[in-house]
Amino acid sequence: MTGLSGRVAIVTGGSRGIGASLARALHASGATVIIADVLVEPGEALAAELGERARFTELDVTDEDSWARTVADAVEAFGAVDAMVNNAGIANAAPLEHFSLEKWNAVIGVNLTGTFLGCRAVAPFMKAAGRGSIVNISSVEGLRGSVRLHGYTASKFAVRGLTKSIAVELGPFGVRANSIHPGIIGTDMTTRIDPESLVVPLGRPGVPGDLAGAAVFLAGDESAYITGAELVVDGGMTAGIPHR
Ligand SMILES: NC(=O)c1ccc[n+]([C@@H]2O[C@H](COP(=O)([O-])OP(=O)(O)OC[C@H]3O[C@@H](n4cnc5c(N)ncnc54)[C@H](O)[C@@H]3O)[C@@H](O)[C@H]2O)c1
Repeated sequence: MTGLSGRVAIVTGGSRGIGASLARALHASGATVIIADVLVEPGEALAAELGERARFTELDVTDEDSWARTVADAVEAFGAVDAMVNNAGIANAAPLEHFSLEKWNAVIGVNLTGTFLGCRAVAPFMKAAGRGSIVNISSVEGLRGSVRLHGYTASKFAVRGLTKSIAVELGPFGVRANSIHPGIIGTDMTTRIDPESLVVPLGRPGVPGDLAGAAVFLAGDESAYITGAELVVDGGMTAGIPHR
């Protein structure tokens, strides 16, 4: 156990993929972790595996009332929410002229509105405690455009912006907010992407564990003077194109 002993963290979308990896890492660093997801079975299994200091709660991040309950339960059970990791996300794609409003609303709803609701739900508790760290999982699609990923790209740019407005507003209360921008990470979300099609300076696509260090760092006191920042974890994908 290291720097997060005694801290309480909520990880949305924590049942699988990147979120599960972040929940494991935060837990290994000493935090009590609340895994919040619509996916019940793997989330419960992960919480059971982690054992003490881990709990699963069913949460749809687009549902305002569920957010109020999730945060109130966490505060009642553990006394605080010190770190809020807004990781839950979906992706969908279509050429612009075929990008339906339904698709658009779905991806904006989970990725952007879900993140907004998570930040808003923890804000009063973090402000009252005089400390807290919000870590929002954006994407390299929050830094650049991508063909067919119109809603996803818009949502991830917006998460990046929302993180900054929150950082500015809550900084005076000791509450920080930063965004992480993963590159291509092997999860259920990316199974259809051919790794051979990627140009990654570090020579491989990422794995969920590649995000762990960044999230633990931003959640804890080692990043105490960092807020409103963007931490890119992409193997160099957005740095430039390497020579072949
Ligand atoms: N995999 C990548 O290459 C990559 C790259 C950049 C950013 N990201 C971001 O990382 C985050 C995690 O993605 P992943 O690759 O682990 O995907 P994933 O599909 O493996 O996991 C997403 C998790 O979010 C949960 N979720 C979806 N909708 C939800 C809702 N309404 N309420 C609560 N939980 C919900 C899912 O049940 C799932 O457990 C997402 O925000 C994604 O946009 C992923």
